[in-house]
Amino acid sequence: MPFPIHRPRRLRKNQAILRMVRETTLSSDDLIHPIFVCEGKGKREPISSMPGVFRQSIDKAVADARETHRLHIPAIILFGIPDQKDSRGSEAYNPDGVVQRAIREIKSAVPEMVVITDVCIDEYTDHGHCGLVEGNEILNDATLELLAKMALTHAEVGADIVAPSDMMDGRVKAIREALDETSHTDTIIMSYAAKYASAFYGPFREAADSTPQFGDRKSYQMDPANGNEALKEVWEDIEEGADIVMVKPALAYLDIIRRVREECTVPVAAYNVSGEYSMLKAAAEKDWIDGSRVMMEILLSIKRAGAKMILTYSAQEAAKILNP
Ligand code: PBG
Repeated sequence: MPFPIHRPRRLRKNQAILRMVRETTLSSDDLIHPIFVCEGKGKREPISSMPGVFRQSIDKAVADARETHRLHIPAIILFGIPDQKDSRGSEAYNPDGVVQRAIREIKSAVPEMVVITDVCIDEYTDHGHCGLVEGNEILNDATLELLAKMALTHAEVGADIVAPSDMMDGRVKAIREALDETSHTDTIIMSYAAKYASAFYGPFREAADSTPQFGDRKSYQMDPANGNEALKEVWEDIEEGADIVMVKPALAYLDIIRRVREECTVPVAAYNVSGEYSMLKAAAEKDWIDGSRVMMEILLSIKRAGAKMILTYSAQEAAKILNP
């Protein structure tokens, strides 16, 4: 009997063979580019904890959407940074708010771009919570009406996909009903179905100035210790009308992405969140890792785990590597 019996290295012999046996491939079609939009003109303010990411006024956001399209990335997701915040997050559902105007302008400048919007009031409330607040309590049912109103103002100006990220119970159904009643039956819902109460959102909260002013988000976002509960959340959202379900964050939750992929038939998205991006950038800046290679390896791992779509601050950088 010759030894070794097994020689898996045969299939790693050269580049062509590697390409033939490769199980997972990453494409710019899989990427979604996040954009933070603020008021003003000609503004492009760097976010210190997220090198390469900016708060941009609408004109700059339009240029960014154009560049994203040129890089063959099919979609962007918009986050609003309003000038005014109040306890009810009124700017979130102002038909003429910063995100609503950005959607209109982006859709008219780059009609092929799929525009996704984050539906959540935390960037618009002065207390920084994702729901209405009474005393120290985050109200569930009273918040649903505002979320539905917000999603509707996005659909009305041309958003293709609304993505509720608040984790209030029943929001998908409330949004689906509000959309259907107003003939927006084609608006897609991508629900942040399994969103964990994670410390990885830190840099985003700096970017959006949305750190909760009291308490934390643990009464609505999920406990990082739970996996079965994620599947329950996902099933409930699908039943309520979610077309796409998302797991967030991605890297510390690859097992959840895999379980959701195996148990459901709807497309799965994963959010490679701000803290994951900042860690990568910080280590790369110090020359402790090869930033580009680690970035591609991270994105590939999220795809291999089972996500078809990846929301990532690395989208443009990765697309440049994928389509040289
Ligand atoms: C809520 C929202 C958050 C993120 C996306 N949508 C912040 C939060 O829940 O605190 C975080 C995204 C990231 O960290 O990149 N509107």
